[in-house]
Amino acid sequence: MPLVARGRSIGALYLENNLASGVFTDDRLEVLQVLAVQAAIAVDHAHFIRRLDAARASAEAANQAKSLFLANMSHELRTPLNAVIGYAEIVREDVADAGLTEVMEDLQRIRMAGAHLLAIVTEILDLTKIESGTLELDRQTIDVAALLGDVIDVVSPEIESKGNRLVADHGANLGTLFADPIRLRQILVNLLTNASKFTTEGTITLHSRRTSEELVLAVEDTGIGMNPDQLKRIFDPFTQVDPSSTRRYGGVGLGLTICKRLCEAMGGTLSVESERGAGSTFTARLPLRGGAEAKLG
Ligand SMILES: Nc1ncnc2c1ncn2[C@@H]1O[C@H](COP(=O)(O)OP(=O)(O)O)[C@@H](O)[C@H]1O
Ligand SMILES: [Mg+2]
Repeated sequence: MPLVARGRSIGALYLENNLASGVFTDDRLEVLQVLAVQAAIAVDHAHFIRRLDAARASAEAANQAKSLFLANMSHELRTPLNAVIGYAEIVREDVADAGLTEVMEDLQRIRMAGAHLLAIVTEILDLTKIESGTLELDRQTIDVAALLGDVIDVVSPEIESKGNRLVADHGANLGTLFADPIRLRQILVNLLTNASKFTTEGTITLHSRRTSEELVLAVEDTGIGMNPDQLKRIFDPFTQVDPSSTRRYGGVGLGLTICKRLCEAMGGTLSVESERGAGSTFTARLPLRGGAEAKLG
């Protein structure tokens, strides 16, 4: 009796009896028929599950291979890039001593282009680590006001170069936070750099406030803003609101994805409010002590 599943013959039900004759009566055959159908369904189902498991295993292996490849390649790219940047700097110093201004400017361009490329490669490496769950946070007790001061020193020149004003609206008693200082700095520098990128001759405000449970850090700008449709996608990897602004402003669209995942890894959240033409506010909320059990991914 054939075992048929979804119109395909996948086997046979074979019964033999050498001891008696006439045992395969019509009503017994009918029962066997029903059994054959059930058996076919069960076998087909088992095949399906096995194929599914194999497909999942190979997809997981491909994903792992991709992450490993990206991590290796990023590392291979960073090493020579650091050499390019470092040597351009050394030569620039030598040339400066000799008073060759024009060559100095060219060397400065090499250094800047190298630094830009390095920033992109580093972003790709960060995303790879986050996606493969291998990013490790180095949690420490952070003096919040001191860290905010450092961040402001780092971004001020860039913000001012676009005619923007940077305002620090710090709450009283910011105290300490138990989190990864390097990653926290990365989040704030990223948000402030974005604010500066999409604002000209406006105001960028860094708000900070401490509640009993969390530290709330918000970066507000008076720049181009975004409409609701655009807002929906900005935390997706490699997403930029509109390709024409990308060409104008540069970047690869990973910054916000990384910031959001880092906030989540520290047990917090990153949210945005924005209106086209009226500016944007990005708000990070981080638990004061915690996130210790927060997981990436
Ligand atoms: N403060 C902001 N004002 C307006 N648009 C913004 C702002 N921050 C981010 N965006 C939009 O979100 C996109 C993604 O940002 P991000 O992930 O940091 O990538 P990138 O800066 O590399 O473009 C930006 O390209 C821009 O379109
Ligand atoms: Mg960015």
